[in-house]
Amino acid sequence: MSIINSKKTLISGVKPTGTPHIGNYFGAMKQFVDMQNEDVYNVLIFIADLHALTSVKNANEMRENTHNLILDYLAIGLDPEKVTLFRQSDVPAHAELCWVFNCITTMPEMMRAHAFKDAEAKNKDINVGMFDYPLLMAADILLYNTDIVPVGQDQKQHLEIARDTARTFNNLYCKNNEPTFIEPAELIMPDVATVPGTDGQKMSKSYKNIIPLFGTDAEWEKAVMSIVTDSKTPGEIKNPDECNIFALHKLVTPPEHLTEIRNRYITGGIGYKESKDILLESIKNYFGPMRERREAFAQNPEAITQILKTGGAAALKIATAKMTEVKQKIGL
Ligand code: ADP
Ligand code: TRP
Repeated sequence: MSIINSKKTLISGVKPTGTPHIGNYFGAMKQFVDMQNEDVYNVLIFIADLHALTSVKNANEMRENTHNLILDYLAIGLDPEKVTLFRQSDVPAHAELCWVFNCITTMPEMMRAHAFKDAEAKNKDINVGMFDYPLLMAADILLYNTDIVPVGQDQKQHLEIARDTARTFNNLYCKNNEPTFIEPAELIMPDVATVPGTDGQKMSKSYKNIIPLFGTDAEWEKAVMSIVTDSKTPGEIKNPDECNIFALHKLVTPPEHLTEIRNRYITGGIGYKESKDILLESIKNYFGPMRERREAFAQNPEAITQILKTGGAAALKIATAKMTEVKQKIGL
């Protein structure tokens, strides 16, 4: 994909740290695919493996997570013809620019970061990488003349730090000429749905209440059958809007069936077991084709290598040009 055109640039990164669930899909991943298809932005999506190093300390786990994340992205429909898909560590300029930013940012500024303050309050062992996390993220974003960064609410402060860093650099080094960095805006992804987990709380890895995005049939079945309900009998009238099963139907069951199921809930014409059986079918229909695509990509590791190689080369070209400008401005 060529980045030399008049479109705005959008970038986002995801850390390769674990198995995604359908909450991640509807809350975040699906929106990258929607944005790619809108065709208004140059979209860059990268695997934030350098960021993941702050917590993943095992080489095989890192390789496996990275491989799985790229498969997940291809499976859900990110198209390498439309999106630059790359691995952060394939572009050394991210770490290099981070160092430059380290040298123009003060400790007190960084100590105001929420993530650092939270970790400190919990007495966690904080490594220097964790402390520096926001400046690596600023480098990720600023290297590509990014206009917009779609992220969750929890990343808002990181975008503020990226803008502050751009301004500090421009003020220090670009007084009499063009600013090197533009200030990016965040696009806070609306919490379209806080997808509930099998226990009705927000679906989250940490609550062990997930339905995996790419489970086996048996894993999907186990998760769906474990959804917590009240103890109404099949013939009793039920409120679909208070039912954890129905909340998931809303995401994956086709609209015509959804209306029928709703009617059956309010007339006392469906039991929870049947509702779960239908939900399981809907999940298989919705995610089954993506799972097949994932399996096809998994059979073809050369294609994955090629996608990362092409994406990495495209990203490297833009990032290297920016880094050359930075070095010239700072006298390296
Ligand atoms: P987890 O809570 O399982 O650890 P993450 O914090 O890694 O998930 O979330 C990754 C992305 O998925 C974030 O952008 C977040 O907003 C989204 N997300 C996670 N869980 C849900 C959910 N239950 N509903 C909607 N979006 C979610
Ligand atoms: N910090 C982000 C998260 O935890 C991941 C990330 C790293 C990122 N670099 C980025 C997101 C640059 C957007 C842009 O989700």
